[in-house]
Amino acid sequence: MTTVSRLIDHFVPEHYQLFIDLDRNNRTFRGKVTLTGSLLATNSPIILHAKDLTLTAATIDNQPATISPSNNDEVSLSLGDLSSGAHTLSIDFSGSINDQMHGLYPCYFEHDGSQKELLATQFESHHAREVFPCIDEPAAKATFDVTLATETNVSVLGNMPVKTQTEESGKLHTSFETSPKMSTYLLAFVVGELQKKSATTKNGVEVNVWATPNQPASSLDFPLDIAVRSIEYYDEYFGTAYPLPKSDHVALPDFSSGAMENWGLITYREIALLADPATTSIESRHYIATVIAHELAHQWFGNLVTMEWWNDLWLNESFATLMEYLAVDALHPEWNIWLDFSTNESIMALRRDSIDGVQPVQTDVDHPDEISTLFDGAIVYAKGARLLRMIQQYIGEDAFRTGLKRYFADHAYKNTIGNDLWQALSDASGKNIENIMNTWISQPGYPVVSIERDTSGVTLTQEQFFVGPHESSDKQWPIPLDHGTSLPELMNSPAITIPTNEPLWLNRHDSAHFITNYDEKSRDYLIAQIANGQLDSIGRVQVLDESTMLARGGLLESSQLIPLLQAYRNEATEPVWNIISLGLAELRKFIEDDNDAEQKLRKLSMKLVSQQYSRLGWAPTKNESEEDTKLRSTAIALTLYGENKDAIQKARQLYDSNPLENLDPELRPLIISSVCRYDDGAVVDDLLDIYRQSHSGDLRQDICVGITSTRVPEKIDLLLESIKDTKTVRPQDAARWFVYLIRGRESRDKAWAWIRNNWEWVEETFGGDKSYDDYVRYSASALVTQKQLEEYKTFFQPMLENPALSRAIKVGISEIEGRVELIERDKHTVQTALKALID
Ligand code: BES
Ligand code: ZN
Repeated sequence: MTTVSRLIDHFVPEHYQLFIDLDRNNRTFRGKVTLTGSLLATNSPIILHAKDLTLTAATIDNQPATISPSNNDEVSLSLGDLSSGAHTLSIDFSGSINDQMHGLYPCYFEHDGSQKELLATQFESHHAREVFPCIDEPAAKATFDVTLATETNVSVLGNMPVKTQTEESGKLHTSFETSPKMSTYLLAFVVGELQKKSATTKNGVEVNVWATPNQPASSLDFPLDIAVRSIEYYDEYFGTAYPLPKSDHVALPDFSSGAMENWGLITYREIALLADPATTSIESRHYIATVIAHELAHQWFGNLVTMEWWNDLWLNESFATLMEYLAVDALHPEWNIWLDFSTNESIMALRRDSIDGVQPVQTDVDHPDEISTLFDGAIVYAKGARLLRMIQQYIGEDAFRTGLKRYFADHAYKNTIGNDLWQALSDASGKNIENIMNTWISQPGYPVVSIERDTSGVTLTQEQFFVGPHESSDKQWPIPLDHGTSLPELMNSPAITIPTNEPLWLNRHDSAHFITNYDEKSRDYLIAQIANGQLDSIGRVQVLDESTMLARGGLLESSQLIPLLQAYRNEATEPVWNIISLGLAELRKFIEDDNDAEQKLRKLSMKLVSQQYSRLGWAPTKNESEEDTKLRSTAIALTLYGENKDAIQKARQLYDSNPLENLDPELRPLIISSVCRYDDGAVVDDLLDIYRQSHSGDLRQDICVGITSTRVPEKIDLLLESIKDTKTVRPQDAARWFVYLIRGRESRDKAWAWIRNNWEWVEETFGGDKSYDDYVRYSASALVTQKQLEEYKTFFQPMLENPALSRAIKVGISEIEGRVELIERDKHTVQTALKALID
């Protein structure tokens, strides 16, 4: 694989003066960049990044320079024998605006009966080079003076406040204040017709939330409140004030990922920012709050202090993910967000990190096409955040915070590597953090601690935990056992023996990244504690979750999950029910070919939840807790899975007697799903029409969840074809449509055939974007048979050379192999155990 050289090793940029003239109607732009910086070697050309740009003229120190494009998105400028030291380059360039959702791209929306567009940018990870020649590396920090020429009568937003605005020859020229020293991937602008709401933080920072005019103004209030209070929280927590005069948050109708932390100008997809009081569910509001808190955490972690290179991407993303939870917990303690951390991040990390071939948190990258593959949410976000939580608990919250304050004071406006952070945390805690954490971030995978008991005590051993085929591993980790007093704080060896007769419960705060295979005594004790409600909610989530992992890994018979699940019949906590529901879903793959066993599983699901279903019913009561409101939807979902006739009828009746906007947002996706599942297909056409016309991201999302539940073959074909029709499904939502269809049992085969037949379209539409390998991953997440495994290999193995897909394909193969093996191994006993259940 080619390794690209770092351009900053040759030329260090200091200041960019950037002018860009946007011609939206002709889908082009032209510009001029004047760059001052230092050349490090004498007699070498100056090399910049530029991709899909035409460079029409260039000077170095006012002398015409020779422009020669080279490989790897590079262009070289030369002028005789250049001496090392300061130089000023000036380049005229032009480029095109296309629909790829990176670089500079249009967002489409409809308002007052006419079609409109915004123009927006997305530069992370290396797309600034598609808009202007630059040194497009995170370590190449410089200051920026940006001027844009645009249409008149639009809002023009940049990283910094507007300095001057004038009209010249029919165009609006907007110049922004000079930026602080920053990396190119954080530069941004947005141009178009927008509405806004504003507020000011205690420290006087102006905060604005923006959306297109077709969104309800009331949907800006909730995000504005969260944004203001998150900034205030971080000002205080990090001990360094938010460094810019303003913080803009813009909802874009077309947006490839969830949100992007451009400094001072954060961009979001609409459902990740806007909360309509009438139609946004509680879960979506919590999601919105965490996204805002995440992107705002980046204003410090990532923007003020930036990783030196992409191998330390986790310094950005793991941290922002941890901070999401710290901030939201401070803003809304009643949301109990740390339980969600266990149910979301921990589970995601444990599942993915058990597969051989997965990346470590800290991963080397050399080729630019590999950069986008680093953003594996389960690893760089979830596992990384979990490891940071682990170290926070290990050294204590005060030392952790003191360390972070030092880190920002020492490294503001500069770049760092992982060890800089460990140093700050070591200094603050007096513990050696570097050794512990470097082991965790540089090794893929995690350990299972097995407990064996005899008359003299217990022995704990650790080895790497795998699901599916794998090479043998002798990896070891320093494991914080978190058991209270009778075990050592850190297990730093392959085995330890302790003289105790007590049952054990390890990792009591679910903050360390390992699982435990308990001895019988401890396991029986924990299950009894669950059944009588004595284990706390984190523990109840953890035991079930770790048990499903042990079953996947062959350390527990999957059929043993059935009595374990039954221990939860009195459960009343919503996040725990999420895990019960996942545990039940875990069993579904074993019963696809056995109708009797399937009926039993449906009954079991309904029976387990029946207490909650009767307690909560279908209609919210006045003053009920948010938790109960959320739990109602889980209870109804499981009851519908149980094919309860009354529930199915109730869903249909609610659907028939209300416009979709009026349905309870908590129940809307379930109602639509149920209706689509039992309907002969006519509703699919109606819903597609509503989907096309709706301006509400929430509603469109619920329709997508629901409509993909249809079992009518022609309608499944219609939905699959709609994915490519940008008039129906925006490219930003294509992956979601696909994943729901390939995970549905009745639509799986069709979706699997469809993606293979349409791979060229995937490549054209998403190649070069970080969502490209999602299609490889989502396919692997759904396939269950030996035949599908062979088809997966036949189809994807020829693409192994592609650095943007290679790892996802390898991990995908192990994942399906592991699943096929597991089904073969445990299918019989699970089916037998289910059929033995008494109705
Ligand atoms: N920096 C990322 C977004 C990003 C990464 C865009 C790489 C393009 C290339 C941002 O901070 C992020 O992590 N966004 C998440 C949402 C977040 C709340 C987990 C996303 O987009 O999914
Ligand atoms: Zn992020």
